[in-house]
Amino acid sequence: MDKYMINGGRRLEGCVRIQTAKNSVLPILAASVLTDEPVTVLNVPDITDVRNMVKILGCLGCRAVYDGDNLTIDSSPADNCEIPRALAHELRSSVFLLGSVISRFRKAKIAYPGGCDIGLRPVDLHLTGLKRLGVDITESNGYILCKCEKLVGNEIMLDCPSVGATENIMLAAVKAEGTTIIKNAAREPEIEDLQNFLNSMGAKVRGAGSGSVVVEGVEKLGGSVYQPISDRIEAGTYLIAAAMCGGNVELEGVNAENLSSLLHKLRENGCKLRIKNDKIIIRSDKRPVSVKSVETQPYPGFPTDLQAQMTALCCVCSGNSIVTENLFETRFKYVPELRKMGADITVVDRSAFVRGVDKLRGATTVAHDLRGGAALVIAALAAEGDSEVLDISHIDRGYERFEYKLASLGAGIKRVGI
Ligand code: EPZ
Repeated sequence: MDKYMINGGRRLEGCVRIQTAKNSVLPILAASVLTDEPVTVLNVPDITDVRNMVKILGCLGCRAVYDGDNLTIDSSPADNCEIPRALAHELRSSVFLLGSVISRFRKAKIAYPGGCDIGLRPVDLHLTGLKRLGVDITESNGYILCKCEKLVGNEIMLDCPSVGATENIMLAAVKAEGTTIIKNAAREPEIEDLQNFLNSMGAKVRGAGSGSVVVEGVEKLGGSVYQPISDRIEAGTYLIAAAMCGGNVELEGVNAENLSSLLHKLRENGCKLRIKNDKIIIRSDKRPVSVKSVETQPYPGFPTDLQAQMTALCCVCSGNSIVTENLFETRFKYVPELRKMGADITVVDRSAFVRGVDKLRGATTVAHDLRGGAALVIAALAAEGDSEVLDISHIDRGYERFEYKLASLGAGIKRVGI
């Protein structure tokens, strides 16, 4: 288990290029199972979640070949419809594969993807949606077993705009007989990216981003060469780091439109933001002013994946803030770790009540999940003195070359293998 050694208190200056979006690449790789022709995904981020998805595709019989950062998947040899338990637990989003594996094999078997450190992570909406398309689903000793004669389009109303459920149903519907309408669908940019990718393969999907996705089933899908969108959560993490540490940071390869809720909050914090084509430049020259409240919501609301990082920023603002997590039950596991650094935070139910302190102090903290871990790193960068962040394998799941990019901005950070 590696750890980060961090010397805090340095301003951040310079430019970082933002990676391709983890939460686009994962469903797109799952979609590659829908065709026998090669699919090439460009500039895939070198992160654990993607490597695990590639391993799972390998278990299904797909062939994966890297050419630099470009990844080509050939699913023509695919002959297995069971997603191995160990990998399903390792990678929750393997549940997206259900839709495409059922579409290809008319059956699928996956271990119940466990919950994780941010909540129960049920999959009831995924299963209800698949049943509406004609899939017969049983559950036995920790496995979900799916089978169907054929997939038939239908109207599906999601109880909540679940990203994964929307994506799973889209993948099952693209080659179903007839038309599927997904109502109360998630509106995240990654849903629109999946729609564009599927249409590049010859699918007929429209409405992504509008809350109602319409999929007209087609007979066959072809291959594709596709560049997914950039990672808005990685970008937001660097913007918040700059706001906390002070400095002048330029992000390259971002779409500011996908981050408008965060940019609005950072302006409230007193940060200066400039947007130029695919660049966002942030200047933070004085102690940030607290935002009174942050409420996570489905897109286009404030993203739950930036909640931990934003709470860390609130810890060093002048004034008090309330951060409310409306999507996941236990997404505050990083709070006791921030308290070790002198943060003044009280969590009651789904809200964290934060009193800004002048400075955090260095400490040894432990990462419990991907985004909470990232929040501990940026808090340590802003803190006075030295810190260690342990169990950084959680962070490796979603941030490519995190310490290199931060060090290139002047941060005092290095990875130590233990
Ligand atoms: C996706 O997870 C993202 N992961 C998450 O990012 C992100 O936090 C989440 O969407 C919300 O934006 C990927 O895209 C790989 P949901 P997902 O289904 O699909 C409830 C990260 O850090 N729900 O939109 O699992 C669920 O309990 C990760 O990159 C059901 O009740 O999220 C939650 O309260 C973490 N039943 C809410 O919906 C279901 O069947 C949102 O979950 C499914 C979900």
